[in-house]
Amino acid sequence: MKILIINGGARKGNTWKLTNLVKENLLSMSSQIEFTEIHLKDLNLPFCTGCSLCFRKGHIYCPHNEIIQKVMDKIEESDGIIFSAPTYNLEMPALTKNFVDHLCFMLHRPRYFNKKGLVISTTGGVGAANSTKNMAGTIKALGFNRCYVLPISSVSWNNYVPTEKHKRKAEFAARKFYEDTASKKLHAPSYPILIPYNLFRGMSFDYVKGSEYETQDGIFWQEENRLKRAYAAGVPLSIFKRLFGNMFYLLGRIMSKHMIVTYKK
Ligand SMILES: Cc1cc2nc3c(=O)[nH]c(=O)nc-3n(C[C@H](O)[C@H](O)[C@H](O)COP(=O)(O)O)c2cc1C
Repeated sequence: MKILIINGGARKGNTWKLTNLVKENLLSMSSQIEFTEIHLKDLNLPFCTGCSLCFRKGHIYCPHNEIIQKVMDKIEESDGIIFSAPTYNLEMPALTKNFVDHLCFMLHRPRYFNKKGLVISTTGGVGAANSTKNMAGTIKALGFNRCYVLPISSVSWNNYVPTEKHKRKAEFAARKFYEDTASKKLHAPSYPILIPYNLFRGMSFDYVKGSEYETQDGIFWQEENRLKRAYAAGVPLSIFKRLFGNMFYLLGRIMSKHMIVTYKK
């Protein structure tokens, strides 16, 4: 099993200590796990410039694609991804947010449907539940099949010592993440995930090649294997969820006629 750890903190502090504890737990469950680490601070990723080329023309046109593509390739090669980042101002830190901004095009064109995620965060006192929830929400919207969370209050500046309760929580989160990743089982997406997925699928008709404001969405969604499905191929979907998704697909088609997203040519 291949696990990628993305460290979204600018240092190896409390959150990294907790991440290492999770790593030890995972290794106690299987010695066959191969870990790879990416430390975002080492990537020297410039701020997202907001050029929107990723949305309009495709992510390979991003001025920072050389950096981002390497991370995307590593995610693609992995079975599970651990996102580790401290909580700052009740949210993910700017270093992580900048990385997430570079992946936002995937909210329009999701992928990674067979990946499982785990988000780890420590906070001084409050906010880790909020930051891990937000981060996991984004990760699931990128397409991840499941995302577990481990929010912990460290009550410390750089001198965190996990309590017995924290150790149990870390073991529990590691076990859930490990068992799900090892099973390779794909779970049905939740109803909220089906909403943007199908709205973008429906809206894609107004952005196809040759239309006034053609975009990459118009190419992506029109592919045969996507256009006719309320969610990604291979992921189970009940009849109710299929109906729910198709309802938002139709809504996307209707809405889009009245609100074309323009851009400066
Ligand atoms: C810029 C900054 C913002 C912070 N914001 C919060 C906060 O909103 N709530 C809180 O309880 N602790 C906050 N803290 C404390 C850290 O979340 C806490 O010490 C955390 O364990 C640090 O993780 P690290 O050692 O991995 O960087 C903040 C710390 C910094 C440096």
